[in-house]
Amino acid sequence: MEQKKGRRVILFPLPFQGHINPTLELANILHSKGFSIAIIYTNFNSLNPSTLNPHFTYHSIPVDFTENEASIKDPTLQLSVLNAKCVEPFRECLAGLLSDDVNSKDPIACLISDPIFDFTRSVAESFKLPRIVLRTGGAASFAVYAAFPLLKDKGYLPIPDSRLEEPVTELSPIKVKDLPRMPDCDPEDFYRLITNMANEPKASHGLIFNTFEDLEGQALATLRREYYPNIPIFSLGPFHKCGPTTSSSSTSLQSQDQSCISWLNTQAPKSVAYVSFGSVAKINQAQFLEVAWGLANSGQPFLWVIRPGLVQESDWLKMLPNGFLEALKERAHVVKWAPQKEVLAHPAVGVFWTHCGWNSTLESICEGVPMICTPCFSDQMVDARFVSDVWKVGLQLEHGIERGEVERTIRRLMVEKEGEEIKERALKLMEKANLSLKEGGSSYQSLDGLVNHILSL
Ligand code: UDX
Repeated sequence: MEQKKGRRVILFPLPFQGHINPTLELANILHSKGFSIAIIYTNFNSLNPSTLNPHFTYHSIPVDFTENEASIKDPTLQLSVLNAKCVEPFRECLAGLLSDDVNSKDPIACLISDPIFDFTRSVAESFKLPRIVLRTGGAASFAVYAAFPLLKDKGYLPIPDSRLEEPVTELSPIKVKDLPRMPDCDPEDFYRLITNMANEPKASHGLIFNTFEDLEGQALATLRREYYPNIPIFSLGPFHKCGPTTSSSSTSLQSQDQSCISWLNTQAPKSVAYVSFGSVAKINQAQFLEVAWGLANSGQPFLWVIRPGLVQESDWLKMLPNGFLEALKERAHVVKWAPQKEVLAHPAVGVFWTHCGWNSTLESICEGVPMICTPCFSDQMVDARFVSDVWKVGLQLEHGIERGEVERTIRRLMVEKEGEEIKERALKLMEKANLSLKEGGSSYQSLDGLVNHILSL
């Protein structure tokens, strides 16, 4: 690959799994296009460079939570603590990289950072370093975030509990109950966090999404036309299918249990329900039992990720009736953390029951796996509505987690005719994702556009 002389890009991921994965995937993509890559990361949820792409340089900043800060329940408050703690160490780190840069053959072209890390704007500006924003969630959910001031004016925010089933006419097919919200935090604080984040790209040199035109073309057009007419918007996803596969590198913060794959190898094609709610979402004890019984009663084999901390304040194993898992051992496999992309690509997986985090949603689409949606917070609600009502590649548990509905929904997807139709649409969408990455496809072209844009900064 031709080395584009004098081009270096710094990326600074928000230190959460759902943001780290796509940021490092984007770094791989840019590296394959001849850029040299520097990654800045915090000690909190620290990366492990020895498991990552060896061609990058890695620069840690001494930012971590104290025990008290780590126990803050309100996510908006915790993020604002994180942001405040990052400012000075980030400034110092960037100053060091820029001063080393003076005589370098590879001058730094720009910083790529997350819009939630809002302080990166003023720090980059103080060094006159161009900054491009990487939004790791989808474009449709970002368009809903960008509309927050309008939604407030129209009385949809704070979310009126008495109108949950009503459509938000300005944002079809979104319903009031799909509007992003966050547990354990003040709605006003959440509103401020979101409007701040949605304003960030306006003062940047561009906005990148991990999505593709055939999936979210309408939302991308709305964003370009109504909210960010003055900056270029790039959609070059799905990132994980676009870059070179560096099989030895892993961006996972937790170790992935490879027993999933040997267990899947023993199961019939398309027979397994894979269940995971991502790296952050929590369910309560009652919901946990409904999941367990719904899966057990469905009669299908299942692979269930029970991440430490998934079930609020409890030892989940003690909550199950004695012998529950032993009785199911022929058709149940439980792990703490799975190699999710490999799992979704496995021929034995027939359905993904997901919280609809954006990465999980895209990863499922890329393998043509139909979804069961249980969105838990923020952008997940919007993603789930698009999965069930727009792309029609899954079904949403509209009334929360209840064992009877879980069992019926698994059967609808895995046994009944309706499931076959959904599966067909999922395969077609997978095909569109693949086409977007091929020469001439929308993501392929957008990547070229991004490369040229960075080179022009
Ligand atoms: C968070 C937010 O919750 C989500 O709404 C937002 O879109 C991104 O940030 P998270 O909850 O972790 O993300 O979900 P998701 O976006 O799906 O990302 C999870 C990542 O972890 C995926 O890339 C998935 O492949 C990986 N994963 C998940 C594993 O590798 N193993 C697992 O067992 C579960």
